Amino acid sequence: MKKFLGLLGDLWHAGGTGGLNWHVHAYSASRAWLGTISEIARFLQQVQPQAHELVLVGASAGWMMPPSWLSRFDRIDAYDIDPLAARLFRWRHGESLRAHGIALHMHRQDALASLPELLQRHPRACLWFDNLLGQHRYRVRDEARAEQEITDLKHQLQGRNWGSVHDLYSGPTQHMAWADRITTLTRAGVDAGQLNSQQAQTLLQDVGAKDVWSDHLTSQVFAPGTPTTLIPWRFKDHHCHWLQAGWVQGRKL
Ligand SMILES: C[S@@+](CC[C@H](N)C(=O)[O-])C[C@H]1O[C@@H](n2cnc3c(N)ncnc32)[C@H](O)[C@@H]1O
Repeated sequence: MKKFLGLLGDLWHAGGTGGLNWHVHAYSASRAWLGTISEIARFLQQVQPQAHELVLVGASAGWMMPPSWLSRFDRIDAYDIDPLAARLFRWRHGESLRAHGIALHMHRQDALASLPELLQRHPRACLWFDNLLGQHRYRVRDEARAEQEITDLKHQLQGRNWGSVHDLYSGPTQHMAWADRITTLTRAGVDAGQLNSQQAQTLLQDVGAKDVWSDHLTSQVFAPGTPTTLIPWRFKDHHCHWLQAGWVQGRKL
């Protein structure tokens, strides 16, 4: 019985960050998310890794992943803990990847817990953390540990080409007129990862945030000075996220 309930829990929310719950919402919100999806595509378009192999972490079904960026690789190893991810990712991206002759390998595995092993297994690949680091604190349910592990990631990845898009902050909003404002701030070069809490609060007020917003403990994913882009994501009506996207050029492959 316990095993069965565990399986049901996995299917429904995959450790709290994916699962059927996420897929149903992502499918039904796909039109509303078009702006965010194209901002992510715009960001990835200017990321031109020389690697021919990609390790995609937190692939899910690739609801927000532009097929054009995937098609630049020869081989993709996609990792997710969600039991539904492999089937749905193949459904959404399989045909286009096959048409481009790209080898796709899906793995059901906790890629953060086994990162050293993954790095050894894929020595020539670049890595993209696809919107999962912001959920780490909710998975491990220990803020100090989550923040430390997220902060340490860049040291584990030293010398590699890698990037991430992840939640910085999220919470309720009273109006939606904030997307332009964030885009402007990004263009003005605001380093979202280096905001102090006072600056962050001011920015949240500027964008119509109300009540208390969650800090996803991801402000130290990138080393100071790494160029990053802020991307607004209206996750649900009146509930929004600030995503941060960045890429680290580790070494020539
Ligand atoms: C917000 S969803 C990602 C969305 C996905 N990139 C897309 O475009 O559809 C986060 C995903 O990360 C996965 N995930 C969370 N922690 C993980 C871990 N430690 N290792 C592998 N996958 C993980 C979850 O199962 C979930 O599918």
